[in-house]
Amino acid sequence: MKTISLAIQKGGSGKTTTAINLAAALQQMGKTVLLVDLDPQANLTQALGLGDDVEPSLYHLLRQEMEGQTARLADIVQTCGGLRLVPASLELAGAELELVSVYGREQLLRRMLEPLQAEYDYILLDCPPAIGLLTVNALVASDYVIMPVQAEFLPLKGLQSFKRHFDLIQRTLNRRMEILGLLLSRYDPRKKMHQQIREELDAGYPGWLFDTYIRTNITLAQAQAAGQDVFAFEPASNGAEDYMFLANEVLKRLVSLERSL
Ligand SMILES: Nc1ncnc2c1ncn2[C@@H]1O[C@H](COP(=O)(O)OP(=O)(O)O)[C@@H](O)[C@H]1O
Ligand SMILES: [Mg+2]
Repeated sequence: MKTISLAIQKGGSGKTTTAINLAAALQQMGKTVLLVDLDPQANLTQALGLGDDVEPSLYHLLRQEMEGQTARLADIVQTCGGLRLVPASLELAGAELELVSVYGREQLLRRMLEPLQAEYDYILLDCPPAIGLLTVNALVASDYVIMPVQAEFLPLKGLQSFKRHFDLIQRTLNRRMEILGLLLSRYDPRKKMHQQIREELDAGYPGWLFDTYIRTNITLAQAQAAGQDVFAFEPASNGAEDYMFLANEVLKRLVSLERSL
């Protein structure tokens, strides 16, 4: 079992879209995957057709764990369109504050995920667009991190700041965590500006960029609005093709990283 966070502090960069469609692609390849929604906005939960007021959600289990009870995440896993999800709810926003005074506040999620390890090949954690305690919990529970970045604005600054947090957490709380890759999303290979951003990212962070980029594709947004992954919604779309390529590349990178350990 490997746990992978989709994380970067900027919203709208493709974390949730990547979580849902990478999970669906890996599942098509015969892997068992669990999605965990860590964002109080509950975009992933809603993109799988649930509301933002699901009860019990990850919030209620975090509360149990904060109160010293053993929270059983497996009890709240929902199956939506063939994908398995630990849902978020708006209440999760409160967890950021409530966690502050809890001992071992950075390790709660890692502890809660441990009993699920035998059941899943991959657990994908969809992080909120900020580096608060929820994202820190995700990173502490992770083996790998994928950072999606949008080609529309200069992402280098945000990436520098994310890297600083990543390094600190790696040094102090989770030595096994590694970067799996940087994913360009909403990319148009014909646009000069997009090509330039790609070159700058590659120069600034050699080896990080996935060869696969996710093209701008309205079908991805439509699928999300319809509460489906892109393979169920429109299997012949560019979005489906790109995310299938990504899943293949992710598996390849995992194999070569595991070998080099
Ligand atoms: N490749 C893409 N082409 C077109 N729209 C996209 C693409 N990727 C994501 N979107 C849309 O952009 C918005 C933000 O993406 P999202 O994955 O929710 O970002 P994040 O989780 O990082 O905030 C969503 O409405 C989503 O449907
Ligand atoms: Mg999101």
